[in-house]
Amino acid sequence: MQKTFQFDDDLTVNRLGYGTMQLPGKGVWGPAADPAAAVKVIDTAIDHGVNFIDTADAYGPLFANLYVKEALKQRPDAKVIVATKVGFTRQGPDQWTVVGRPAYLRQQVEENLYTLGLDHIDLLQLHRIDPEVDLADQINVLKDMQREGKIKHIGLSQVSVKQIKAVRKIVPIVSVQNRYNLVDRHDEDVLEYAEKHHIAFIPWFPLATGKLLDNKKLVKLTEKYHASPAQLALAWLLKRSEVILPIPGSANSEHVINNIAAQDIDLTDEDFKSLNKLGK
Ligand SMILES: NC(=O)c1ccc[n+]([C@@H]2O[C@H](COP(=O)([O-])OP(=O)(O)OC[C@H]3O[C@@H](n4cnc5c(N)ncnc54)[C@H](OP(=O)(O)O)[C@@H]3O)[C@@H](O)[C@H]2O)c1
Repeated sequence: MQKTFQFDDDLTVNRLGYGTMQLPGKGVWGPAADPAAAVKVIDTAIDHGVNFIDTADAYGPLFANLYVKEALKQRPDAKVIVATKVGFTRQGPDQWTVVGRPAYLRQQVEENLYTLGLDHIDLLQLHRIDPEVDLADQINVLKDMQREGKIKHIGLSQVSVKQIKAVRKIVPIVSVQNRYNLVDRHDEDVLEYAEKHHIAFIPWFPLATGKLLDNKKLVKLTEKYHASPAQLALAWLLKRSEVILPIPGSANSEHVINNIAAQDIDLTDEDFKSLNKLGK
């Protein structure tokens, strides 16, 4: 199995990444109860080979980025690609508002740079397309910031094939981040499009927010593979397509180590096909 994904000649990542959304704590609005422990989780992920971290200014908000900044500050030699997002704002634990006005997107890119402590963002994803703002205006401001050297690559999140095609007429797209996991395969067409065009497909909720952990079919296979249900769900994603970059979220270092080891699990074709049947 191909363990890495190449964005460009200088930018190759290990496919099994890490997502920061859980770092402040489940349903927490604000900082983590123990910020040093949150930083340690990121550090553990890097120690175990993660070099692709997905984050967003809306996680915390801002706190997840600050933990990434601190973790990277503590190990300046680590070569980590940080993918962040703009365009989805947050007013409370479960209150999300799409805001795609170009002036605000520009401010959010700057805020991401500052909170992550970076001089440029390797992968900037538009978290959501704002249906109330002209698409070209939303994309052109990111394209401008790419020209200015603040953004290296542009990606999209929660989009249809039609939307990806429309955006690609304006600017190259290197990644798409949509909800996708073993039991939620609504966006299979988007994955197929990504595969065809060598666009990274970054499935969010790769573990269905933990709901996959007691899935009967996965639990049944744990003994055979000496693996946890989480690992099997991630191994299925890695086998499903070489453009898939799973970013499981966790605030628990043991879980992070467990998840990373999923890249060493080789599901048989028979088990892969049998698990396929769980998809809707
Ligand atoms: N683009 C978007 O719109 C969007 C939306 C949502 C999320 N995301 C991104 O996708 C990432 C992943 O999504 P997610 O974190 O919400 O959901 P997820 O990865 O599907 O599941 C995370 C949940 O699973 C638990 N978990 C993780 N590994 C485990 C293990 N080995 N054993 C037992 N439990 C485990 C975590 O709890 P513990 O903390 O206890 O480990 C957490 O409750 C996010 O972190 C974020 O970066 C993007």
